[in-house]
Amino acid sequence: MLAGKKILLGVCGSIAAYKSAHLVRLLVKANAEVKVLMTPAATEFITPLTLATLSKQEVLIDFAEDNGRWNNHVELGLWADAMVVAPASANTLAKLASGICDNLLSAVYLSARCPVFFSPAMDLDMWKHGSTQANLERLKSYGNHIIPVGKGELASGLYGEGRMAEPEEITAELEQFFLAAEQERDLEGKKVLITAGPTVEMIDPVRFISNYSTGKMGFALAKEFAKRGAQVTMVKGPTVHQEVLEGVDTLEVTSAEEMYQAATARFGDSDIAVLAAAVADYTPTEQHAQKIKKNGGHMQLELVKTKDILQSLGQKKTKGQILVGFALETENEETNARQKLEKKNLDLVVLNSLNDKGAGFGHDTNKITVIDRKGNAKLFELKSKTAVAHDIVNEIVRISHA
Ligand code: CTP
Repeated sequence: MLAGKKILLGVCGSIAAYKSAHLVRLLVKANAEVKVLMTPAATEFITPLTLATLSKQEVLIDFAEDNGRWNNHVELGLWADAMVVAPASANTLAKLASGICDNLLSAVYLSARCPVFFSPAMDLDMWKHGSTQANLERLKSYGNHIIPVGKGELASGLYGEGRMAEPEEITAELEQFFLAAEQERDLEGKKVLITAGPTVEMIDPVRFISNYSTGKMGFALAKEFAKRGAQVTMVKGPTVHQEVLEGVDTLEVTSAEEMYQAATARFGDSDIAVLAAAVADYTPTEQHAQKIKKNGGHMQLELVKTKDILQSLGQKKTKGQILVGFALETENEETNARQKLEKKNLDLVVLNSLNDKGAGFGHDTNKITVIDRKGNAKLFELKSKTAVAHDIVNEIVRISHA
């Protein structure tokens, strides 16, 4: 995730500056391009030569170098994909919070258009001081990111809060940030079809066969896809849960047959289809136009199999289209889900187990296992349906790149 990223690393005068060497190494190892800026005070703690050697770039300290070269702070600020100030001393935090600009690092900060991360490092008293905390709040309110401090051993050997985060934690934070930014609109231009909710199979004008599906999982998926830039069509049965989703083309249907018609009509034009609806497997052979009158002690209702929408789309699927189905199982879960994936020609099957507490119909949470065509099964923890939708979409993106 950091490969090719341009990182400006600002190093301040703090005993934790020794950790910057390791941080540079980690960033370079991740194939990021790193330019190091040091405050004059930082050079008292670590030599520019060390950081220049590790970053394979000249270290910049002053506006004007001895050789008469001028370091352009505006250009540096524009060059970077991210600026990281680590360690960020109490003094530099205070200066940057109020816009004081008396060295190259602070001038670059004021010119930077990229996200800026601060990894504070100081002793406990300085850290806890109201002034420092107020400065951090101010920096945050300007959109900067503050990397949490460690709570263990201070560089000076003392214990307490204020210790700089480990270089591994800082790189993880950056990776997370770039990943999230990349994921934000990673499905721009993709057309996505979703089926959601139950179907309702009418027996007569007042009676029907249906199930407890609320449609929440389908709604969560539609929202997640739309958020990531996809053009979403949701074909949904009558759901208790109602929500107008902005940017989602919602088609209301009632029966399995109507859902089949709507979904097949849209599938040809879709890049991705996720069928999350709980479609009735059987429907009354006959739909009475008038209310059925009671008559005797028994009554027989004849049902006929509905069309399997998922299977039918699996047969129609062409190269490049991704088809995802759900499987709700109570026994031999993974085996059954794998069979479903094969039989219906799916790219992914999302397995819900009814044996898991909090998973399935009606809950706001779900616990899933995602199985791909290679047979890999990925088990996720119990999460909100929104978080589950995020995981499912990530898996779809992963297999589409594979
Ligand atoms: N599905 C569908 N059309 C149907 C029935 C199911 O599109 N008529 C889709 C669901 O939206 C879901 C998956 O198929 O993605 C669920 O299959 P499921 O009902 O669990 O299993 P079945 O294939 O119906 O098999 P069984 O009833 O034997 O478990």
